[in-house]
Amino acid sequence: MAEQAAPATAREWHLAARPQGWPVESDFALVEAPVRTPGPGEILVRNAYLSVDPYMRGRMNDVPSYVPPFQLGKPMDGGAVGYVVASEAEGFAPGDAVLHGLGWREYATVDARQAVKVDPAAAPLPAYLGVLGMTGLTAYAGLLAVGGLKEGDKVFVSGAAGAVGSMVGQIAKLKGASLVVGSAGSAEKVAKLVDEYGFDAAFNYKDAPVREQLAQAAPDGIDLYFDNVGGDHLEAAIGALGVHGRAVLCGAIAQYNETTAPAAPRNLALAIGKRLRLEGMLVGDHAALRPQFVAEVAGWLKSGELRHAETVVDGFENTAEAFLDLLRGVNTGKMVVRLDG
Ligand SMILES: NC(=O)c1ccc[n+]([C@@H]2O[C@H](COP(=O)([O-])OP(=O)(O)OC[C@H]3O[C@@H](n4cnc5c(N)ncnc54)[C@H](OP(=O)(O)O)[C@@H]3O)[C@@H](O)[C@H]2O)c1
Repeated sequence: MAEQAAPATAREWHLAARPQGWPVESDFALVEAPVRTPGPGEILVRNAYLSVDPYMRGRMNDVPSYVPPFQLGKPMDGGAVGYVVASEAEGFAPGDAVLHGLGWREYATVDARQAVKVDPAAAPLPAYLGVLGMTGLTAYAGLLAVGGLKEGDKVFVSGAAGAVGSMVGQIAKLKGASLVVGSAGSAEKVAKLVDEYGFDAAFNYKDAPVREQLAQAAPDGIDLYFDNVGGDHLEAAIGALGVHGRAVLCGAIAQYNETTAPAAPRNLALAIGKRLRLEGMLVGDHAALRPQFVAEVAGWLKSGELRHAETVVDGFENTAEAFLDLLRGVNTGKMVVRLDG
Protein backbone atom coordinates (compact mmCIF):
# COMPACT_ATOMS: atom_id res chain seq x y z
CA MET A 1 0.00 0.00 0.00
CA ALA A 2 1.16 3.57 -0.65
CA GLU A 3 2.66 5.22 2.39
CA GLN A 4 2.38 8.87 3.28
CA ALA A 5 5.21 10.79 4.95
CA ALA A 6 4.98 10.93 8.73
CA PRO A 7 3.56 14.14 10.21
CA ALA A 8 5.59 16.23 12.68
CA THR A 9 3.01 15.67 15.41
CA ALA A 10 0.23 13.16 16.05
CA ARG A 11 -2.25 12.30 18.77
CA GLU A 12 -1.81 9.90 21.68
CA TRP A 13 -3.93 8.97 24.69
CA HIS A 14 -2.54 9.67 28.14
CA LEU A 15 -3.80 8.48 31.49
CA ALA A 16 -4.74 11.78 33.14
CA ALA A 17 -5.96 10.39 36.47
CA ARG A 18 -6.18 7.00 38.13
CA PRO A 19 -9.82 5.85 38.02
CA GLN A 20 -11.62 5.18 41.28
CA GLY A 21 -14.12 2.46 40.44
CA TRP A 22 -15.54 2.91 36.95
CA PRO A 23 -13.24 5.06 34.77
CA VAL A 24 -14.69 8.39 33.60
CA GLU A 25 -13.85 10.51 30.57
CA SER A 26 -11.65 12.90 32.55
CA ASP A 27 -9.31 10.01 33.48
CA PHE A 28 -8.09 10.11 29.86
CA ALA A 29 -6.50 12.92 27.84
CA LEU A 30 -6.03 13.17 24.08
CA VAL A 31 -2.66 14.85 23.54
CA GLU A 32 -0.85 16.13 20.43
CA ALA A 33 2.82 15.12 20.65
CA PRO A 34 5.89 15.12 18.38
CA VAL A 35 6.37 12.03 16.19
CA ARG A 36 9.90 10.79 16.89
CA THR A 37 12.06 9.84 13.90
CA PRO A 38 13.22 6.22 14.27
CA GLY A 39 16.80 5.65 15.45
CA PRO A 40 18.97 2.62 14.67
CA GLY A 41 16.99 -0.60 15.12
CA GLU A 42 13.65 1.23 15.22
CA ILE A 43 10.67 1.55 12.90
CA LEU A 44 8.00 4.22 12.68
CA VAL A 45 4.52 2.72 12.41
CA ARG A 46 1.25 4.35 11.41
CA ASN A 47 -1.24 2.45 13.52
CA ALA A 48 -4.27 1.12 11.69
CA TYR A 49 -6.08 -0.83 14.46
CA LEU A 50 -5.75 -0.58 18.24
CA SER A 51 -6.72 -3.21 20.76
CA VAL A 52 -8.60 -2.30 23.91
CA ASP A 53 -8.51 -5.05 26.52
CA PRO A 54 -9.91 -5.61 30.00
CA TYR A 55 -6.42 -6.05 31.54
CA MET A 56 -5.76 -2.37 30.77
CA ARG A 57 -8.12 -1.46 33.59
CA GLY A 58 -5.73 -3.08 36.07
CA ARG A 59 -2.84 -1.07 34.62
CA MET A 60 -4.69 2.14 35.49
CA ASN A 61 -4.23 1.33 39.20
CA ASP A 62 -0.91 2.06 40.85
CA VAL A 63 -0.41 -1.44 42.22
CA PRO A 64 2.28 -4.06 41.59
CA SER A 65 1.12 -6.60 39.01
CA TYR A 66 2.38 -8.84 36.24
CA VAL A 67 2.42 -5.79 33.93
CA PRO A 68 3.60 -2.37 35.13
CA PRO A 69 0.94 0.29 35.73
CA PHE A 70 0.38 3.04 33.17
CA GLN A 71 2.13 6.24 34.20
CA LEU A 72 0.14 9.40 34.74
CA GLY A 73 0.66 11.99 32.01
CA LYS A 74 2.36 9.45 29.71
CA PRO A 75 0.99 7.65 26.66
CA MET A 76 -0.76 4.37 27.40
CA ASP A 77 0.20 1.28 25.42
CA GLY A 78 -1.31 -1.98 24.24
CA GLY A 79 -1.65 -4.19 21.18
CA ALA A 80 -1.75 -2.49 17.77
CA VAL A 81 -1.32 -3.30 14.11
CA GLY A 82 -0.21 -0.81 11.52
CA TYR A 83 2.04 -0.02 8.60
CA VAL A 84 5.72 0.84 8.68
CA VAL A 85 6.30 4.35 7.31
CA ALA A 86 10.04 4.60 8.01
CA SER A 87 12.55 1.94 8.97
CA GLU A 88 16.04 1.96 10.45
CA ALA A 89 15.81 -1.76 11.16
CA GLU A 90 16.94 -4.65 9.04
CA GLY A 91 14.10 -6.75 7.70
CA PHE A 92 11.44 -4.00 7.89
CA ALA A 93 10.50 -1.76 4.98
CA PRO A 94 7.90 0.96 4.48
CA GLY A 95 4.55 -0.61 3.72
CA ASP A 96 5.13 -3.70 5.87
CA ALA A 97 2.24 -4.52 8.20
CA VAL A 98 3.35 -5.13 11.78
CA LEU A 99 1.93 -6.14 15.16
CA HIS A 100 3.46 -4.41 18.17
CA GLY A 101 2.75 -3.15 21.69
CA LEU A 102 2.58 0.65 21.32
CA GLY A 103 -1.13 1.23 20.85
CA TRP A 104 -3.21 4.15 22.15
CA ARG A 105 -1.38 6.45 19.66
CA GLU A 106 -1.64 7.26 15.97
CA TYR A 107 2.07 6.87 15.22
CA ALA A 108 4.49 4.69 17.16
CA THR A 109 8.28 4.62 17.10
CA VAL A 110 8.92 0.98 17.91
CA ASP A 111 12.01 -1.08 18.75
CA ALA A 112 11.88 -3.50 15.81
CA ARG A 113 12.65 -6.42 18.15
CA GLN A 114 9.24 -5.75 19.72
CA ALA A 115 7.40 -5.88 16.38
CA VAL A 116 6.42 -8.84 14.22
CA LYS A 117 5.46 -8.69 10.59
CA VAL A 118 1.96 -9.89 9.77
CA ASP A 119 0.45 -10.77 6.42
CA PRO A 120 -2.64 -8.68 5.55
CA ALA A 121 -3.33 -11.05 2.65
CA ALA A 122 -3.55 -14.07 4.96
CA ALA A 123 -6.02 -12.49 7.40
CA PRO A 124 -7.58 -9.05 7.90
CA LEU A 125 -5.42 -6.88 10.18
CA PRO A 126 -7.76 -6.89 13.23
CA ALA A 127 -7.60 -10.70 13.30
CA TYR A 128 -3.99 -10.36 14.51
CA LEU A 129 -5.32 -8.62 17.64
CA GLY A 130 -8.09 -11.16 18.22
CA VAL A 131 -8.74 -14.59 16.79
CA LEU A 132 -5.13 -15.08 15.60
CA GLY A 133 -3.64 -12.87 18.29
CA MET A 134 -3.48 -12.43 22.04
CA THR A 135 -7.07 -13.26 22.89
CA GLY A 136 -7.10 -16.27 20.59
CA LEU A 137 -3.96 -17.69 22.15
CA THR A 138 -5.43 -17.06 25.61
CA ALA A 139 -8.45 -19.19 24.72
CA TYR A 140 -6.40 -21.92 23.07
CA ALA A 141 -3.71 -22.19 25.72
CA GLY A 142 -6.12 -21.73 28.61
CA LEU A 143 -8.47 -24.44 27.47
CA LEU A 144 -5.96 -26.97 26.21
CA ALA A 145 -2.68 -26.45 28.11
CA VAL A 146 -4.03 -25.16 31.43
CA GLY A 147 -7.51 -26.68 31.46
CA GLY A 148 -6.39 -29.97 29.92
CA LEU A 149 -9.63 -30.33 27.96
CA LYS A 150 -10.48 -33.97 27.35
CA GLU A 151 -12.92 -35.47 24.89
CA GLY A 152 -16.32 -35.79 26.52
CA ASP A 153 -15.73 -32.99 29.05
CA LYS A 154 -18.70 -30.86 30.05
CA VAL A 155 -17.50 -27.25 29.82
CA PHE A 156 -18.84 -23.95 31.12
CA VAL A 157 -17.36 -20.62 29.98
CA SER A 158 -18.30 -17.15 31.19
CA GLY A 159 -17.85 -13.99 29.14
CA ALA A 160 -18.78 -16.39 26.36
CA ALA A 161 -19.62 -13.85 23.66
CA GLY A 162 -16.36 -11.97 24.14
CA ALA A 163 -13.06 -12.37 22.32
CA VAL A 164 -11.65 -15.09 24.58
CA GLY A 165 -14.90 -16.76 25.61
CA SER A 166 -16.35 -17.20 22.12
CA MET A 167 -13.22 -19.07 21.08
CA VAL A 168 -13.10 -21.18 24.23
CA GLY A 169 -16.60 -22.52 23.62
CA GLN A 170 -16.04 -23.25 19.95
CA ILE A 171 -12.64 -24.88 20.45
CA ALA A 172 -14.11 -27.01 23.21
CA LYS A 173 -16.75 -28.27 20.76
CA LEU A 174 -14.16 -28.83 18.03
CA LYS A 175 -12.05 -30.85 20.47
CA GLY A 176 -14.89 -33.13 21.48
CA ALA A 177 -16.51 -31.62 24.58
CA SER A 178 -19.81 -33.35 25.21
CA LEU A 179 -21.51 -30.20 26.52
CA VAL A 180 -20.58 -26.53 26.16
CA VAL A 181 -22.51 -23.93 28.13
CA GLY A 182 -21.84 -20.19 27.92
CA SER A 183 -23.03 -17.15 29.83
CA ALA A 184 -23.25 -13.63 28.44
CA GLY A 185 -24.96 -10.33 29.19
CA SER A 186 -27.72 -9.99 26.58
CA ALA A 187 -30.37 -12.01 24.75
CA GLU A 188 -28.66 -11.22 21.41
CA LYS A 189 -25.35 -12.58 22.64
CA VAL A 190 -27.00 -15.71 24.04
CA ALA A 191 -28.74 -16.36 20.72
CA LYS A 192 -25.48 -15.92 18.83
CA LEU A 193 -23.71 -18.46 21.06
CA VAL A 194 -26.26 -21.16 20.33
CA ASP A 195 -27.24 -20.31 16.74
CA GLU A 196 -23.87 -19.30 15.28
CA TYR A 197 -21.16 -20.65 17.55
CA GLY A 198 -22.66 -24.07 18.23
CA PHE A 199 -22.85 -23.87 22.02
CA ASP A 200 -25.21 -26.51 23.42
CA ALA A 201 -26.77 -24.01 25.80
CA ALA A 202 -26.32 -20.42 26.87
CA PHE A 203 -27.95 -18.02 29.31
CA ASN A 204 -28.06 -14.33 30.18
CA TYR A 205 -26.47 -13.99 33.62
CA LYS A 206 -28.58 -10.87 34.25
CA ASP A 207 -31.86 -12.85 34.00
CA ALA A 208 -31.57 -15.04 37.13
CA PRO A 209 -28.85 -16.29 39.51
CA VAL A 210 -25.97 -17.97 37.65
CA ARG A 211 -26.19 -21.00 39.96
CA GLU A 212 -29.81 -21.66 38.94
CA GLN A 213 -29.29 -21.11 35.22
CA LEU A 214 -26.14 -23.24 35.18
CA ALA A 215 -27.94 -26.07 36.98
CA GLN A 216 -30.63 -25.97 34.33
CA ALA A 217 -28.18 -25.93 31.41
CA ALA A 218 -25.86 -28.58 32.89
CA PRO A 219 -28.04 -30.77 35.14
CA ASP A 220 -25.27 -33.38 35.52
CA GLY A 221 -22.66 -30.80 36.44
CA ILE A 222 -19.48 -29.76 34.65
CA ASP A 223 -15.90 -31.00 34.38
CA LEU A 224 -14.17 -27.78 33.33
CA TYR A 225 -14.90 -24.11 33.96
CA PHE A 226 -13.16 -21.33 32.01
CA ASP A 227 -13.52 -18.21 34.16
CA ASN A 228 -13.46 -14.77 32.57
CA VAL A 229 -15.70 -13.15 35.17
CA GLY A 230 -15.08 -14.29 38.78
CA GLY A 231 -17.60 -13.56 41.57
CA ASP A 232 -20.94 -15.32 41.38
CA HIS A 233 -19.93 -17.08 38.16
CA LEU A 234 -16.96 -18.70 39.88
CA GLU A 235 -19.10 -19.59 42.88
CA ALA A 236 -21.70 -21.26 40.65
CA ALA A 237 -18.98 -23.17 38.80
CA ILE A 238 -17.36 -24.42 42.01
CA GLY A 239 -20.79 -25.73 42.96
CA ALA A 240 -21.34 -27.42 39.60
CA LEU A 241 -17.88 -28.96 39.13
CA GLY A 242 -17.63 -32.68 39.74
CA VAL A 243 -14.89 -34.56 41.58
CA HIS A 244 -11.46 -33.68 40.12
CA GLY A 245 -13.04 -30.81 38.18
CA ARG A 246 -10.81 -28.04 36.87
CA ALA A 247 -11.25 -24.29 36.68
CA VAL A 248 -9.06 -22.07 34.50
CA LEU A 249 -8.86 -18.65 36.16
CA CYS A 250 -8.33 -16.39 33.18
CA GLY A 251 -10.05 -13.18 34.22
CA ALA A 252 -12.35 -11.66 36.82
CA ILE A 253 -13.94 -8.78 34.94
CA ALA A 254 -16.86 -8.51 37.38
CA GLN A 255 -14.48 -7.03 39.93
CA TYR A 256 -12.17 -4.83 37.82
CA ASN A 257 -14.15 -1.67 38.62
CA GLU A 258 -15.22 -2.64 42.13
CA THR A 259 -13.85 -0.73 45.09
CA THR A 260 -14.75 -3.40 47.65
CA ALA A 261 -13.71 -7.05 47.92
CA PRO A 262 -15.96 -9.49 46.00
CA ALA A 263 -18.73 -11.18 47.97
CA ALA A 264 -18.29 -14.47 46.08
CA PRO A 265 -17.10 -17.19 45.83
CA ARG A 266 -18.28 -18.21 49.30
CA ASN A 267 -17.99 -21.95 48.66
CA LEU A 268 -14.26 -22.39 48.05
CA ALA A 269 -14.07 -25.10 50.72
CA LEU A 270 -15.98 -27.40 48.35
CA ALA A 271 -12.73 -27.56 46.37
CA ILE A 272 -11.26 -29.76 49.11
CA GLY A 273 -13.74 -32.60 49.08
CA LYS A 274 -14.12 -32.47 45.30
CA ARG A 275 -10.32 -32.30 44.85
CA LEU A 276 -10.78 -29.41 42.40
CA ARG A 277 -7.89 -27.78 40.62
CA LEU A 278 -8.26 -24.01 40.18
CA GLU A 279 -5.37 -22.64 38.17
CA GLY A 280 -4.58 -19.07 37.19
CA MET A 281 -3.13 -18.42 33.76
CA LEU A 282 -1.31 -15.69 31.85
CA VAL A 283 -1.16 -15.84 28.09
CA GLY A 284 2.43 -14.58 28.19
CA ASP A 285 3.53 -17.93 29.60
CA HIS A 286 2.32 -19.76 26.50
CA ALA A 287 4.32 -18.19 23.66
CA ALA A 288 5.75 -21.61 22.80
CA LEU A 289 2.26 -22.75 21.78
CA ARG A 290 1.90 -19.94 19.23
CA PRO A 291 2.95 -21.88 16.08
CA GLN A 292 0.62 -24.77 16.92
CA PHE A 293 -2.16 -22.32 17.80
CA VAL A 294 -1.79 -20.33 14.57
CA ALA A 295 -1.68 -23.45 12.42
CA GLU A 296 -4.72 -25.07 14.03
CA VAL A 297 -6.85 -21.92 14.29
CA ALA A 298 -5.99 -20.78 10.75
CA GLY A 299 -7.15 -24.20 9.55
CA TRP A 300 -10.47 -23.92 11.39
CA LEU A 301 -10.98 -20.41 10.04
CA LYS A 302 -10.32 -21.58 6.51
CA SER A 303 -12.70 -24.53 6.81
CA GLY A 304 -15.35 -22.30 8.38
CA GLU A 305 -15.47 -24.45 11.54
CA LEU A 306 -14.48 -21.52 13.74
CA ARG A 307 -16.36 -18.25 13.65
CA HIS A 308 -15.31 -14.96 15.10
CA ALA A 309 -16.62 -11.45 15.44
CA GLU A 310 -15.05 -8.07 15.89
CA THR A 311 -16.71 -4.95 17.19
CA VAL A 312 -14.98 -2.14 15.32
CA VAL A 313 -15.12 1.40 16.68
CA ASP A 314 -14.14 4.05 14.16
CA GLY A 315 -11.91 6.97 15.00
CA PHE A 316 -8.82 7.34 17.17
CA GLU A 317 -10.60 9.97 19.25
CA ASN A 318 -13.09 7.26 20.35
CA THR A 319 -10.47 4.91 21.85
CA ALA A 320 -11.19 5.74 25.50
CA GLU A 321 -14.92 5.38 24.88
CA ALA A 322 -14.30 2.04 23.14
CA PHE A 323 -12.39 0.86 26.20
CA LEU A 324 -15.27 1.89 28.47
CA ASP A 325 -17.77 0.20 26.14
CA LEU A 326 -15.73 -3.01 26.39
CA LEU A 327 -16.11 -2.95 30.16
CA ARG A 328 -19.83 -2.23 29.73
CA GLY A 329 -20.28 -5.23 27.44
CA VAL A 330 -21.14 -3.31 24.28
CA ASN A 331 -18.81 -5.56 22.26
CA THR A 332 -19.40 -8.96 20.74
CA GLY A 333 -16.09 -10.64 20.02
CA LYS A 334 -12.89 -8.63 19.93
CA MET A 335 -13.18 -4.90 20.53
CA VAL A 336 -10.86 -2.90 18.24
CA VAL A 337 -10.51 0.72 17.19
CA ARG A 338 -9.99 1.53 13.51
CA LEU A 339 -7.95 4.63 12.81
CA ASP A 340 -8.69 6.98 9.96
CA GLY A 341 -6.70 6.93 6.76
N1 LIG B 1 -5.05 -14.29 31.84
C1 LIG B 1 -4.75 -13.80 30.64
O1 LIG B 1 -3.62 -13.94 30.13
C2 LIG B 1 -5.82 -13.06 29.88
C3 LIG B 1 -5.62 -12.66 28.55
C4 LIG B 1 -6.69 -12.03 27.87
C5 LIG B 1 -7.88 -11.79 28.53
N2 LIG B 1 -8.01 -12.17 29.83
C6 LIG B 1 -9.26 -11.99 30.55
O2 LIG B 1 -10.25 -12.69 29.84
C7 LIG B 1 -11.51 -12.05 30.01
C8 LIG B 1 -12.12 -11.76 28.64
O3 LIG B 1 -11.27 -10.85 27.95
P1 LIG B 1 -11.60 -10.43 26.44
O4 LIG B 1 -10.44 -9.67 25.95
O5 LIG B 1 -12.08 -11.60 25.71
O6 LIG B 1 -12.80 -9.39 26.66
P2 LIG B 1 -14.28 -9.58 26.11
O7 LIG B 1 -14.86 -10.79 26.76
O8 LIG B 1 -14.26 -9.50 24.63
O9 LIG B 1 -14.98 -8.27 26.64
C9 LIG B 1 -15.29 -8.10 27.98
C10 LIG B 1 -16.72 -8.64 28.26
O10 LIG B 1 -16.85 -8.84 29.65
C11 LIG B 1 -18.23 -8.87 29.95
N3 LIG B 1 -18.49 -8.26 31.26
C12 LIG B 1 -18.25 -6.99 31.65
N4 LIG B 1 -18.62 -6.83 32.94
C13 LIG B 1 -19.11 -8.03 33.35
C14 LIG B 1 -19.65 -8.50 34.59
N5 LIG B 1 -19.77 -7.70 35.66
N6 LIG B 1 -20.05 -9.78 34.66
C15 LIG B 1 -19.95 -10.59 33.59
N7 LIG B 1 -19.43 -10.21 32.40
C16 LIG B 1 -19.03 -8.94 32.29
C17 LIG B 1 -18.94 -8.07 28.83
O11 LIG B 1 -19.82 -8.94 28.14
P3 LIG B 1 -21.33 -9.26 28.66
O12 LIG B 1 -22.24 -8.48 27.77
O13 LIG B 1 -21.44 -10.72 28.48
O14 LIG B 1 -21.41 -8.81 30.09
C18 LIG B 1 -17.82 -7.66 27.91
O15 LIG B 1 -18.15 -7.74 26.55
C19 LIG B 1 -11.24 -10.81 30.86
O16 LIG B 1 -11.51 -11.11 32.20
C20 LIG B 1 -9.77 -10.57 30.65
O17 LIG B 1 -9.20 -9.85 31.72
C21 LIG B 1 -7.00 -12.80 30.51
